[in-house]
Amino acid sequence: MAAAKALTLVEVDRDGVSPAFRADVLKGLSEPQKAVPARWFYDEAGSRLFEDITQRPEYYPTRAETEILTDRCAEFRELIGPGRAVVEFGSGSSVKTPLLLGCIDPAAYVPLDISGDFLRASAESLADKFPGLPVHPVEADFMRDVALPEAVANLPKLGFFPGSTIGNMVARTAVDLLRTMRATLGEGSQLLIGMDLIKDPGVLEAAYDDAAGVTAAFNLNLARRINTELGGTIPLESLRHVARWNDDFARIEMHLEATRGFAFEVAGRRFEMAAGETIHTENSHKFSRRSSFTLLLAGGWTPRCRWLDTRERFSLILADATVPRSAP
Ligand code: TRP
Repeated sequence: MAAAKALTLVEVDRDGVSPAFRADVLKGLSEPQKAVPARWFYDEAGSRLFEDITQRPEYYPTRAETEILTDRCAEFRELIGPGRAVVEFGSGSSVKTPLLLGCIDPAAYVPLDISGDFLRASAESLADKFPGLPVHPVEADFMRDVALPEAVANLPKLGFFPGSTIGNMVARTAVDLLRTMRATLGEGSQLLIGMDLIKDPGVLEAAYDDAAGVTAAFNLNLARRINTELGGTIPLESLRHVARWNDDFARIEMHLEATRGFAFEVAGRRFEMAAGETIHTENSHKFSRRSSFTLLLAGGWTPRCRWLDTRERFSLILADATVPRSAP
């Protein structure tokens, strides 16, 4: 399986350091609650570890979503229909996309990804599986406005956003993205989006803290990257991976927690951590039926159909681009 997103678009300066990485880390470590944006997880090692996370027995979302995509093929066919351009936001999954494309008889496939290498690899493997399907990869940051290729301008669109990636954003960012997607995809478009469900916190915490320690290694890889790429002196053996349920915000939070007090440097700047203090590295919001619908509606999408896996752990929602109106 191809490794997940590597950020090849990120620019580097003369020392091979990404100024954006350095700026994000220095800013994040200066906040009262230390935090580093999750996008910096995905160097090559991080991307490989992430692939491994999705195979852990505790990490149910990938299997649950794949089950829905497999079992509901006939319904997708009926509700989505043939002839659409499928636009995948953050293309990547080499397993889920063919399941969908095989069901609905699309007119074109447009994978969007920030990583050109990754994009070309997945576009090629898709083109092999679906000879005759026009594939138009677009190298772009889907969080910004994206121009779709001319070739699909007049086709009705289906946005595909699996993996509950929407849950990795705080609500405001998620709504911004949903609205951007709606603007990109246009009138008459549909969106098929994966959203993970609120459930027993024990199950959730295990999914983000697997017994084999892969998610822990993934989280700690971020601190290792800071040391190697930004001249950091973080004592890695004094950080531990923590996955905790935040009930107020209905999200799993990942943190790196200091097991003792220490000082360290990054890019020549000095920082301190007290014992028990954490660096916040990721959120994974979970949804109820209502909260998922509210988020979609706020983003300009009307839910049309919602499917769950047989164990009711994960949801896949089909929504229509809403025509805005000001009165009830
Ligand atoms: N969106 C998925 C989730 O929240 C995958 C994911 C993103 C993830 N970042 C992660 C999984 C960090 C584990 C750790 O579950």
